Amino acid sequence: MKYINENPLSLYIHWPYCETKCPYCDFNSHVNEHVEINHWIKSFNNQLHTMRKEFIDKNIKFKNLNAIFFGGGTPSLMPLEIVEDIINISNQIFGFEKNIEITLEANPSSYDREKFIELKKLGINRLSIGVQSLNNQYLKFLGRLHNISDIDNALKDALEIFDNISVDLIYAFHGQKLVNWTNELVSFLTNYNLQHLSLYQLTIEEGTKFFKDYKNGLVKVIDNDLAAEFYDISNNIISDFKFMRYEVSNYAKKGFQCIHNLNYWNSENWIGIGPGAYGRIWAPNKISRIEYSNYKNPKTWLSKNFYHTEFEKITRFNNYESDIDTLTMGLRLYDGMHISKLENKSIINFNALKILQNHNIVSFRNNTLKVNKNHMIKLNSIIKFLINT
Ligand SMILES: C[S@@+](CC[C@H](N)C(=O)[O-])C[C@H]1O[C@@H](n2cnc3c(N)ncnc32)[C@H](O)[C@@H]1O
Ligand code: SF4
Repeated sequence: MKYINENPLSLYIHWPYCETKCPYCDFNSHVNEHVEINHWIKSFNNQLHTMRKEFIDKNIKFKNLNAIFFGGGTPSLMPLEIVEDIINISNQIFGFEKNIEITLEANPSSYDREKFIELKKLGINRLSIGVQSLNNQYLKFLGRLHNISDIDNALKDALEIFDNISVDLIYAFHGQKLVNWTNELVSFLTNYNLQHLSLYQLTIEEGTKFFKDYKNGLVKVIDNDLAAEFYDISNNIISDFKFMRYEVSNYAKKGFQCIHNLNYWNSENWIGIGPGAYGRIWAPNKISRIEYSNYKNPKTWLSKNFYHTEFEKITRFNNYESDIDTLTMGLRLYDGMHISKLENKSIINFNALKILQNHNIVSFRNNTLKVNKNHMIKLNSIIKFLINT
């Protein structure tokens, strides 16, 4: 059997609180309220133990953790005691691979230098900083609490303390001038020696303030051709700075790809703890996959004791669904995916594949299927065309 549970395992921890709710954000994030530290520690701790018990009961073999990701929300607001406890307990019960990557997301408006130093001592070895825009006007538009000078302070401190820094940016706003954006990006990459970048075009997500504003004509989006131009030009600039695009929106210097996110895109196993976090595990000796989703509401999640598994939802993917997901995630990667990962290769429409190959849109060599780099922006329609329904 291919692919089961001898594969990498990582851990995602969701911290659901933020200082404010950004108008574009549909993540499970809530404005900060009082945090009862011991209650949170107990819940995280119990959930970790219960997950391990669940693995053993279900006869799921697992490897040591190769990555931990504190995401949010705003994990740089997390009390240090909670971060410390999660790192210690997960090491005790799952074990760490030698070069484990431990990432924490930080916002430029909610950090201090001392906290970065303490986080490093606890084992955090990668920081992902939510810079979001390189321009005060757009930071304001995005509802962010920081400005350019806060970004400068945060990045200078972070670069002194950590060896692996990633930055998130949002771009391609309506009215944004391509020339301004490219100048900002060039000067940003010249000034800060980053190891990783995640670059997202603004999307309007249902349920957000921007969604209402969009419906009312108060927020506009740019057209597809201009969006494609923004994407191509940004890719060229970033590659001039020796970053490799390894996924649709992610770029890394050599050796700095995000191990945790690679587990997602390679359809490996991961555990999710905390409100709204989800995990996906391949079932033992089967090809099916299970997704566990935690209660989204922080109070509901906290009210569970996790002496046994208590999830909001458990989804069992059948072979077909698992294959579609493996293909959809795998083709996001610049190196593409080996089709031996698919249980049933006939989900691929080989006539469609021929057409895409003839147009140089995808390549298929040594059983590795890959979307050619100039066509990545059309990934969703390519996948739709490629799948046998
Ligand atoms: C979990 S979020 C946030 C992490 C952190 N709290 C922050 O705001 O910096 C991960 C990233 O997704 C991106 N993102 C969130 N909503 C988006 C949207 N509607 N359009 C484009 N990018 C978005 C942002 O770059 C964000 O940093
Ligand atoms: S700080 Fe990050 S997670 Fe929180 S609301 Fe803003 S984008 Fe969402």
